[in-house]
Amino acid sequence: MKRARGLDAGLTHYGDPDFARYLRRSFARSMGLSTQLLDQPIVGIAMTPSGFNNCHRGMPELVEAVSRGVLAAGALPRVFPTVSLGEVFLNPTSMVYRNLMSMDTEEMISAQPMDAVVLIGGCDKTVPAQLMGAASADVPAIQLVTGPMMTGRHKGQRLGACTDCRSFWQKFRAGAVDAAEIQQVEGRLSVTAGTCAVMGTASTMACIAEALGMSLPGTAAIPAVHADRLVAAEMTGRAAVALIGRPIRPSQVITTRSVENALRVLMALGGSTNAVVHLTAVAGRLGIRIDNGRLNAISDETPVLVDLKPVGEGYMEDFHAAGGMGALLRELQPLLHLDTVDVTGRTLGERLAEPLDWVDHQVIRPFADPVSKVGGLIALGGSLAPGGAILKRAAATPALFEKQGRAVVFSGLDDLARRIDDPGLDVTAEDILVLQNIGPQAAGMPEAGYLPIPRKLAQAGVKDMVRISDGRMSGTAFGTIVLHVSPESAVGGPLGAVRNGDLIRLSVADKRIDLLVDPAEVARRLQDFVPPPGPARGYKALYRKAVLQAEGGCDFDFLTQAGAPWTR
Ligand code: FES
Repeated sequence: MKRARGLDAGLTHYGDPDFARYLRRSFARSMGLSTQLLDQPIVGIAMTPSGFNNCHRGMPELVEAVSRGVLAAGALPRVFPTVSLGEVFLNPTSMVYRNLMSMDTEEMISAQPMDAVVLIGGCDKTVPAQLMGAASADVPAIQLVTGPMMTGRHKGQRLGACTDCRSFWQKFRAGAVDAAEIQQVEGRLSVTAGTCAVMGTASTMACIAEALGMSLPGTAAIPAVHADRLVAAEMTGRAAVALIGRPIRPSQVITTRSVENALRVLMALGGSTNAVVHLTAVAGRLGIRIDNGRLNAISDETPVLVDLKPVGEGYMEDFHAAGGMGALLRELQPLLHLDTVDVTGRTLGERLAEPLDWVDHQVIRPFADPVSKVGGLIALGGSLAPGGAILKRAAATPALFEKQGRAVVFSGLDDLARRIDDPGLDVTAEDILVLQNIGPQAAGMPEAGYLPIPRKLAQAGVKDMVRISDGRMSGTAFGTIVLHVSPESAVGGPLGAVRNGDLIRLSVADKRIDLLVDPAEVARRLQDFVPPPGPARGYKALYRKAVLQAEGGCDFDFLTQAGAPWTR
């Protein structure tokens, strides 16, 4: 039987399909659409503008350009809104709402009549949520990102959100920058529409979407305000129409092999730790598991090639000008699976066989002359993190890679805020800071794993210390920071058993984080463990009940593909 398409697809249930079709067409006419257009196939455009999302400020123009492309290619564009997540406007953290947005996206794609869909997102959680939703809906889909911001200037220095936000704040805390200057900097960090200007989570996820094959080639890094971003939007609209004639579903694009390609790209970018959680969640929707051993093998084989902040020097606008993802993928070619298929229907091998017009090897280094010989991220095991943890070694201090120290423990965010700057805090630069109870269930896993250096140490010139938590950190942050410790403290993980003065050992060489306390004593301490109370109602109660630990991508257990091995 011929599949219904356009307005005839997925009719509303009235018990009379012909009536439902007639009513739908009549109501569609009320939007001023001609009969000719009502007969066309439909491309849905998931748009996410919001007065609480600066990163999506360019959305109206992008929607218009995608619509133009769809119309020019002979289909009917239908724009629909979904949840939008602006990173810095959400409490307690945008991470709590990523799954909500993914559910909204999946259900609105599935419930409404569309033959293909363009997903427009950009800020940190939006692209993961859209990819998760699209993977589950499995309607032909293309991701378009809003693109990165341009840099600002301050006293001759380029500034980009948000690595420079953090370095200036660190200087302010240390007394090297005064209140007047930090206020000036505040106005010079985020100067255009678009996502953070460095290789933070948003940019990493944009590159990952392209590496997976879910975005048009060459579109990940185009600056938000560049005319080429609008051209990319128009071409995305056209490509979505082409997908209707030759359906390629997300499940054909996101495969074990394309996920491995995406991991390679993540390592070569020196990309965000958050991308591990998000990619795990996207892959998990299709039953693909990211194993920590495989992640480490890929990391050890894949050099960091992109010299951008927070790991290196440049900004996203430099990456784009240097050749962007096309140039990076060509450097990585020997390590990639070339038979993966993207949303245009081409294999990666076919894409990379085309000549490249330009690469700036200052920004995208040759494979033989990398920024670092090994990948940016590693997974850790060990007695403190039996379910795993993540360290961004590319943004860490090599002198701290092999470190044993005394734990200075904070029991949660309130405790941290109360005591971190206390002049009487018993802490030295040789200690290891531990923050408990910021994991997925306890706190929604906020980006609070980037614990500040205690003020008295910062003022004494200490720039980095080993810091450990069950939370996340921003992709724009840096330091020797162990994140995503699993199981989290709030479900009885060993992190919750750490006490002031315990010894902890980090070994990057062995990829371990260990609590040097007799296991019997750890078990005894955990016997007294009582899970903290959670929210009683609403979405947050659902979140608390259903969220998986970091190794499950913090997805909801009922959203991962049935039978996935980490579904509890
Ligand atoms: Fe949106 Fe950084 S705040 S990408």
